[in-house]
Amino acid sequence: MAYRHTPAMLKEVITCLNCRPGKTFVDGTLGGAGHAGAICDRITPGGVFIGIDQDIDAINHAKAVLQSDDLQIHILHGNFFRLPELLSQLKVRAVDGILLDLGLSQHQLENSGRGFSFRRDEPLDMRMDIRSPQTAGQLVNNLAQKDLQKIFKDYGEERWAGQIARKIIKARSQNEIRTSSQLAQIVAESIPGRAASTQKIHPATRLFMALRIAVNRELERLETFMEFAVDYLNPGGRLCVLSFHSLEDRIVKQRFKALEKGCTCPPRLPQCVCGQKPCIRIITKKVARPTNEEIAANAMARSTRLRAVEKI
Ligand SMILES: C[S@@+](CC[C@H](N)C(=O)[O-])C[C@H]1O[C@@H](n2cnc3c(N)ncnc32)[C@H](O)[C@@H]1O
Repeated sequence: MAYRHTPAMLKEVITCLNCRPGKTFVDGTLGGAGHAGAICDRITPGGVFIGIDQDIDAINHAKAVLQSDDLQIHILHGNFFRLPELLSQLKVRAVDGILLDLGLSQHQLENSGRGFSFRRDEPLDMRMDIRSPQTAGQLVNNLAQKDLQKIFKDYGEERWAGQIARKIIKARSQNEIRTSSQLAQIVAESIPGRAASTQKIHPATRLFMALRIAVNRELERLETFMEFAVDYLNPGGRLCVLSFHSLEDRIVKQRFKALEKGCTCPPRLPQCVCGQKPCIRIITKKVARPTNEEIAANAMARSTRLRAVEKI
């Protein structure tokens, strides 16, 4: 399996994580293991590296490329929203840093054969974890029109969500929609010619992203993870999240703000009764963005946002 290692904002991420020899770090989204390799280099010797991915291809790749006699390396096939169980299996109570680099890996997009890209003719699968029950094909062929429309609108901010959902219902009443190319074609036919020609991105871009988010329940998983993540950091430990979607970034930003504030009492109360204290310091006061060179080298990097905190 040939992976291209172009991890997003590598230098900033590694600086934010504050990796040091002998420390314990988690990469919850191994992907092509680019960030993971850089973390392993910096926690050598004596560190513990725990790498997680829900995609078995990423796991096999990481097992092949991440090897060291000076580190304990654990590569785990699973979902980062199950971090507490995964750490307890390893008898690890807390760690010194956690990284999430959300979204799709280059391998998933270009070589997985699972229909993530509208530029390829592949079965409409889009599962990052091939053990999970529902494929994109099943959603597209079975959901009610209003539910499809909601996915396209909520996750893709797709202006033509209604038209596309209607066209899908019509197309599938004749034949099952089986491939990424078939779906891309339906999307292209749903958007009025003039609107399609003025769009900066391919008309299917937002729709494929929306469907992928729904198939993998990406926002729910992130929300669950953000609820507990800081509890699993040692004092001084860092949590860094790279997101690509405004809804992901909003989840991360709001949770960080709440943890930085601590108190959850309604503003009308004259004094705090909840007793909750701030438990983090936000390191990225101004959200970090990729450089123009990084965007030029990798168009997918355009919408990347990095947010990082330190546990106090
Ligand atoms: C953008 S890639 C990570 C790239 C990686 N940082 C690198 O340096 O190559 C995202 C990876 O996260 C994985 N992933 C996404 N959501 C996940 C989740 N909830 N649990 C575990 N892995 C997840 C995907 O399968 C994919 O391999």
